[in-house]
Amino acid sequence: MGISSAPLNIRSGFGFTTGIDVGRQSLKQIVVGLLLFKMAGTFPTAPRAVLDYTTAKAGNPFVEGWYADPDTEYYDNLYWIYPTYSDVYEKQTYMDAFSSPDLINWTKHSSILTAANVSWAHKAMWAPAAISRNGKYYLYFGANDIQVDEIAAGLVGGIGVAVADKPEGPYVDAIGEPLIGNFYNGAQPIDQDVFIDDDGQAYIYYGGHSHANVAKLNDDMVSLGTFDDGTTFREITPENYIEGSQMIKRKGIYYFMWSEGGWGGPDYSVSYAMSDSPLGPFKRISKILQQDGAVARGSGHNGVINVPGTDIWYITYHRRPLSETDGNHRVICYDRMYFNDDDAVKNITMLVKDNFADGKMIGWITYGDAEWNVVDQRLTLSTAEDDNWQLATLDTNFADFVYDGLITVVAGDGPAGLVFRATDKTAEGYGSYYAATIEVYKQGSKLTLSSVSDGSTSTMESVNGPFVTGAEYHVRVTAVGNEIKVFVDDLGDPKITVQDTAHSIGASGVVIGPSTSARFGGISIAHPSS
Ligand SMILES: *[C@@H]1O[C@H](CO)[C@@H](O)[C@H](O)[C@H]1NC(C)=O
Ligand SMILES: *[C@@H]1O[C@H](CO)[C@@H](O)[C@H](O)[C@H]1NC(C)=O
Ligand SMILES: *[C@@H]1O[C@H](CO)[C@@H](O)[C@H](O)[C@H]1NC(C)=O
Repeated sequence: MGISSAPLNIRSGFGFTTGIDVGRQSLKQIVVGLLLFKMAGTFPTAPRAVLDYTTAKAGNPFVEGWYADPDTEYYDNLYWIYPTYSDVYEKQTYMDAFSSPDLINWTKHSSILTAANVSWAHKAMWAPAAISRNGKYYLYFGANDIQVDEIAAGLVGGIGVAVADKPEGPYVDAIGEPLIGNFYNGAQPIDQDVFIDDDGQAYIYYGGHSHANVAKLNDDMVSLGTFDDGTTFREITPENYIEGSQMIKRKGIYYFMWSEGGWGGPDYSVSYAMSDSPLGPFKRISKILQQDGAVARGSGHNGVINVPGTDIWYITYHRRPLSETDGNHRVICYDRMYFNDDDAVKNITMLVKDNFADGKMIGWITYGDAEWNVVDQRLTLSTAEDDNWQLATLDTNFADFVYDGLITVVAGDGPAGLVFRATDKTAEGYGSYYAATIEVYKQGSKLTLSSVSDGSTSTMESVNGPFVTGAEYHVRVTAVGNEIKVFVDDLGDPKITVQDTAHSIGASGVVIGPSTSARFGGISIAHPSS
């Protein structure tokens, strides 16, 4: 951040509150449960569930609210996310954190660090980096978006370090001034990552304005060391580097990652280098994460999660919802990060899934006046007699895709089903889309593919059931060019195949008709090849 500026509007009031101790309490309950098992002489030998997901399976973004630059840590059996609060610089005066035992349910910890506890910070508190040492928790952060001429004019800013006794803070300034408060080798003092190597040496990687430096941190974690040649800062800038330094180590290899493109634009992205030394050289290998016109734009500024004791890795990052225009509307997401046999990082695919296991419908946009709820991992709705079709969509824009969902008509006739290639959004809903729906009525049941254009519905093809009320059906729609196929449960044999050109690209979601109760689950929308 800090080079370019996007159009900035002020938005507020999107926060939510949850009990701070939910994650810890449930862990405590697990521990108590294990003790009871032990006392009964049947101590379970199975390991904790391994968090082996293809993506955030309860949906991206994985928390509510505008956040960016998500850094990660694993403390006390919980995964922690430390992001930037995304707003105009003057309002970026605090940081929230999130913790989770399973990467699904997240507990929000509000204002873990505020400008009130850093005497020299007054705005643009950015891109935290968390780490623990000697029983203390450290949070490194950028503040004030300091420029060269401002430093010359006597203004203070840069990278600070705060300390706390607990992962959730409260964090307070550890040294009363910036740890790095000037430009060295052209690097703006922001966007640090802190890394402790296996030999115990700590390093700080950082830099904006297209320059990256590394420096040693002393064991106290609040002062800088020097290299053998007596210098403090060593430039390591790889080709195309803009900002967002990140260091991880896997199988003895150092992976340096960074962001390219403008943070305010759609082409913000993540690239990486590999080295056998923490000091480089870091030769750029390739871009691994970037925008996808069907999913989101501006995917960048990453963190990394490694599930302890496994070779399971996730990349955390922020991105911009497709239909949003506010420059500060950034949301935090994660996807799986795989490695090749030669240890190179595979390109990352932003997957679109939601199994509603977090009890929430984050990222869904609803149309119509009915109220959607998540109950037992299913998105549910009951409509009134005079309700028109009610839609809930994800902010996606797929042309060709494989779309899977679980559909149950709970009461009423339906229809209930999947919508896709939805366009022409209005205040009331969508004007144009396809719908693959199930209806269950007294005389029978049917599966129908409909085309809705400017609000008027035409049936393209309908086939008879048997479908029954209360049963859950796996509906798959594949759309490639003009050919649309609809499968129910038997994924080898489409029940409907049509050729049509009415709608070619658009959002995906679910739909329900009047006087009906229905439930939806297991949503997944993917490019045909992924
Ligand atoms: C942080 O600052 C606030 C406001 O000045 C103060 O009330 C609070 O005690 C400080 N927190 C810590 C942990 O020092
Ligand atoms: C990974 O993405 C980069 C950047 O888009 C591209 O140049 C490269 O070919 C991709 N690699 C693979 C294996 O698809
Ligand atoms: C996650 O939250 C949902 C909704 O509150 C709840 O039903 C579920 O049990 C939670 N999962 C875990 C592992 O705590």
